[in-house]
Amino acid sequence: MSIPFFNIGKNPKKNKIIVFANQKGGCGKTTNCVMFADLLVQNFHHRLVMLDADPQRSIVKKHEQDLERWPQLKPLYQVVPCTQLNSESDTQNLIRAMRNEDFDFVIDTPGSLTLQGLLPLVFEADAVIVPIQLEKTSINSTTSFIEMCAMVAKENGGNKLPDFYFLPNQFNKNWGRKAELTEQQTFLDYFAKLGTVLPKVPNSAEIQRYSTLYLTDKQHEIIGRPYGMLHDCIYNKNKAA
Ligand SMILES: Nc1ncnc2c1ncn2[C@@H]1O[C@H](COP(=O)(O)OP(=O)(O)OP(=O)(O)O)[C@@H](O)[C@H]1O
Ligand SMILES: [Mg+2]
Repeated sequence: MSIPFFNIGKNPKKNKIIVFANQKGGCGKTTNCVMFADLLVQNFHHRLVMLDADPQRSIVKKHEQDLERWPQLKPLYQVVPCTQLNSESDTQNLIRAMRNEDFDFVIDTPGSLTLQGLLPLVFEADAVIVPIQLEKTSINSTTSFIEMCAMVAKENGGNKLPDFYFLPNQFNKNWGRKAELTEQQTFLDYFAKLGTVLPKVPNSAEIQRYSTLYLTDKQHEIIGRPYGMLHDCIYNKNKAA
């Protein structure tokens, strides 16, 4: 990667670009992306657009189904399929366009690094949320994603990683022998050196039933702590600094 793509239009006073990413498939990017976006609008009254950058178009399809099922509900945000991550220059154009808006962008990305423009987006984002499952295969795959980012940062002459927020997802407190729990803690300690580790999101049928149109009281209860902290980190960061 030769084009220096850092800080194309980063302006902390302006809008936020929030990206859910991890090359590990099925770790919870789409689910948490939608639920966090719902919370941002419902609880915190942010104005945002959801970009679905996964070629599977999971969110676009889900949103269409939700609108059909609950025609009386007003959408919380616009859902837009994003086809612009095929090259670094595509992504640069997209970032410039996003930085010209005064609303925020929440972006779901695919479980692979095949799109050339994905890493530049990750580096430009104000927050990169990485859902992780605390088991070995998932951790290995997540680790290679982070290592790839570190390598790209180095190639571009810097050591600065994106602002990573690691979100332990599908956590089941009843699973795990003592040795496994110790291992999980080792993983969390490793991720804590690379970014912020958020409180855990449990494995829950209620979460599986997410909608792009609303959050249930039960969902609010489950995601209140991790997403509340994530919100504060992203939106109050500059105030704290
Ligand atoms: N906290 C959770 N509790 C229960 N089920 C969950 C949770 N998070 C995700 N899931 C389920 O796990 C599966 C994968 O989740 P999801 O589609 O969000 O992952 P993904 O990272 O977007 O996958 P892909 O890489 O294919 O895009 C889905 O069936 C989803 O309902
Ligand atoms: Mg997905």
